[in-house]
Amino acid sequence: MTFVDGLRSDLGEAGVLTGADAAPYLTGQRGLFTGEALAVVRPASVKETVLVVRACASAGVFIVPQGGNTGMSGGAVPATGADRDSHGLQPQSIVLSMSRMNRIVSVDPDRWTITVEAGATIEAVQQAAAGAGRLFAPDWGARGTATVGGAIATNAGGNNVLRYGTLRDNVLGLEVVLADGQVWDGLRALRKDSSGYDLKQLFVGAEGTLGVVTQAVLRLRPATPHAQSALAAVSGLDSLMPLLELAEARCGGDVTAFELVPDVGLERACKKFSLARPLEARAEFYVLVRLSSTEPVSDRLGAFLDEASDSGWVTDAAVAVTDEHEERLWAIRDELPAMRLWDLHEHGVKLDTAVPIDRFGPYHDEVRRIAAELAPDAFTYGFGHVGDGNVHMYVLPTSDDQVAPFLAVRDELRERIDEATFAFGGTLSAEHGIGQLLRDRIRQQKPAVEWDLMQAVKNALDPQGIMNPHKTLPP
Ligand code: MLT
Ligand code: ZN
Repeated sequence: MTFVDGLRSDLGEAGVLTGADAAPYLTGQRGLFTGEALAVVRPASVKETVLVVRACASAGVFIVPQGGNTGMSGGAVPATGADRDSHGLQPQSIVLSMSRMNRIVSVDPDRWTITVEAGATIEAVQQAAAGAGRLFAPDWGARGTATVGGAIATNAGGNNVLRYGTLRDNVLGLEVVLADGQVWDGLRALRKDSSGYDLKQLFVGAEGTLGVVTQAVLRLRPATPHAQSALAAVSGLDSLMPLLELAEARCGGDVTAFELVPDVGLERACKKFSLARPLEARAEFYVLVRLSSTEPVSDRLGAFLDEASDSGWVTDAAVAVTDEHEERLWAIRDELPAMRLWDLHEHGVKLDTAVPIDRFGPYHDEVRRIAAELAPDAFTYGFGHVGDGNVHMYVLPTSDDQVAPFLAVRDELRERIDEATFAFGGTLSAEHGIGQLLRDRIRQQKPAVEWDLMQAVKNALDPQGIMNPHKTLPP
């Protein structure tokens, strides 16, 4: 019996996919990475996950955990070109899809927690929490497909990090199948626990290189029935940080999101997806601010915008007056990723960088300067989480005949931008993980001793090196 047949006899037909059925799991969302695998294996329980991990450990087969496959860094598909056995004969990985383990196990409003399997989508968790009068705060455009397991693996961020933190700040406990098949039951619901190393945090952001997360206890927050957003035209990037400070000062802890929207993106998203342009006034940049609270927020939002306008930081604003209007503003925001808007996005340089927030303006200028120097015909485009210093910037060719000259300078462009990011004290990976995309570029970001410590953790938890190899840790 082959290895795959053995898995099939243990998990049944629905548990093992091969051929055309497996193909969608082998290419990452942006189409940048396609890998090979012996099979896509879909356990339906922690018991079956253990069985698969044990089988892989004894056969020396690599395990590539996968959630909704919405990742941006190629962390959840087998590594390109590095996943064949030592004779180069056959793929050596399985994709371990958590898609069948998607149950909401329990909602516990009195504890302010929800316990879910790793394959539950972010949206399903949000809805279950809302049903119990609570809020699960992490949120981003791919909410309907992205899963809790994938979000934990990348320490995902999204639009509400400013107020509620990244996934790291929203995980209280985990259940993990370790590389040798042991199950670590760390499903605790404690807000405070100083009893030694915080092991759950090792698995957050580890991109499946240390073990397979099968369940999580997530933190819930008070529901915020009163929410209002405004899209404000800003007088320039210099206005953004004073504006954020003003918003925090006038609106207390109720500033939930503070997102940069460039006019080129706004215009393109409205045209492409037939959305109404929310305000007539034109500016190079807008900021999408959202307040949410247990109490009405519109007076404070209005007062903040008036003061911002008096200070000259805001030149015009569209304030959402109905829920529908609010949804329309956020629908535009969800469409801003380059792969939604620009045909040639796959050729571009795409950044998930963050810098200390007081340095965002000069950093943005520096990226543009480097792009203008090396690729003067290319188009530079940035949007997103400016309140966290994490703007997704892209440098893209704009027509087919620009692709070849752009590709000729792309590596140098990346290198120069990476160097600038480090010089600004930034990170190449704010919320999308390292995966395959950044693995060769990330080393300079941290001192050698830090990578050595991470490698020591990896060696301790996965001595055989079967958990998602060729990802995350620099070669
Ligand atoms: C976003 O903020 O919309 C996502 O991180 C997606 C992206 O960066 O393209
Ligand atoms: Zn983002």
